[in-house]
Amino acid sequence: NLVEKASFTWQTPSNIALVKYWGKSNPQIPKNASISFTLNNCHTITTIDFKKIEKVETVDFDLFFEGKQKDAFKPKIAEFFKRIQEYCPYIFDYKMTINSENSFPHSSGIASSASGLSAISMCLMSLESELNSDLSAEEINKKASFLARLGSGSASRSIEGPMVVWGNHPEIEGSSDLFGVKFPYKLHSVFENYQDAILLVDKGEKQVSSTVGHNLMHEHPYAESRFTQANDNLSKISEILQNGDIKAFVNLVESEALTLHAMMMTSNPYFILMKPNTLEIINKIWEYRTENDSNICFTLDAGANVHVLYPEVEKEKVNQFIEKELSKYCQKNQYIYDSVGFGASKK
Ligand code: PMV
Repeated sequence: NLVEKASFTWQTPSNIALVKYWGKSNPQIPKNASISFTLNNCHTITTIDFKKIEKVETVDFDLFFEGKQKDAFKPKIAEFFKRIQEYCPYIFDYKMTINSENSFPHSSGIASSASGLSAISMCLMSLESELNSDLSAEEINKKASFLARLGSGSASRSIEGPMVVWGNHPEIEGSSDLFGVKFPYKLHSVFENYQDAILLVDKGEKQVSSTVGHNLMHEHPYAESRFTQANDNLSKISEILQNGDIKAFVNLVESEALTLHAMMMTSNPYFILMKPNTLEIINKIWEYRTENDSNICFTLDAGANVHVLYPEVEKEKVNQFIEKELSKYCQKNQYIYDSVGFGASKK
């Protein structure tokens, strides 16, 4: 019972991992569990128009990004559709027109795969729930995260908020390698509305694609101990998020960021993804923390940009510090203020 025409629009966020996912096996199964803050301001808005057609053998879609046809992005999305086709057979019955835009500057070094793929997944699930009205909201989110994971692992953590765990972990109830789940325990109030300022140090092309990066963990001499450490850190951060031990939070989060980069420096081929200004910023953050008795800390993605994390009570002072001291290390003085958000929303 397929509908003739439908159109859905979803806004889905980016996320920033605190315990990092780095290393996977097929099909997109993580080697360790990870946890992230869902962001609020950095998001993608995607509309998919579905028009019923005669069944096709290759998924038929057009892709527009910020109003312009974007064939360069098509192979990645085509590959995504291929991976999900057995779970969404109806995609062969529709011509899809996808319109997408990001709230953050294009090629800012902010990964758009998490927000982009989670938005497409939510649009597909909206169509699926028209076809099968029995699906509960919980089932819809779970399957959307499952689909997004097949596109990009971290995208599985971009459906819900404020914190999401992806990867089977004995201490996180309901956790799975197949989809992300909302952190199931009560967060201590210090972590409510946590702030994340993203400092754009280098907006260039990624030196290492995440596919290449994950694969480097297969032959990596420290792989096994890294996976064990990450799962241990997930147990620790689960406690910390509930008891509010912010000093332990700072220590664990910075160590995770540096370990991610250490994995890249100790793989073969090896990479240094930090830039001189990344290190300048890290040192300034450490100085500021000591001098102001602050709980500011940093985390990093697989690139040179720095995410500065701090509790809401420090917002005014830290924002001044960013504007006066840290912005000069950013490309064109660019940075983005963000904070923890609550996940996908229908538009
Ligand atoms: O989702 P992917 O395959 O692009 O991998 C992302 C990996 C990191 O961003 C470096 C860490 C993480 O857990 O998000």
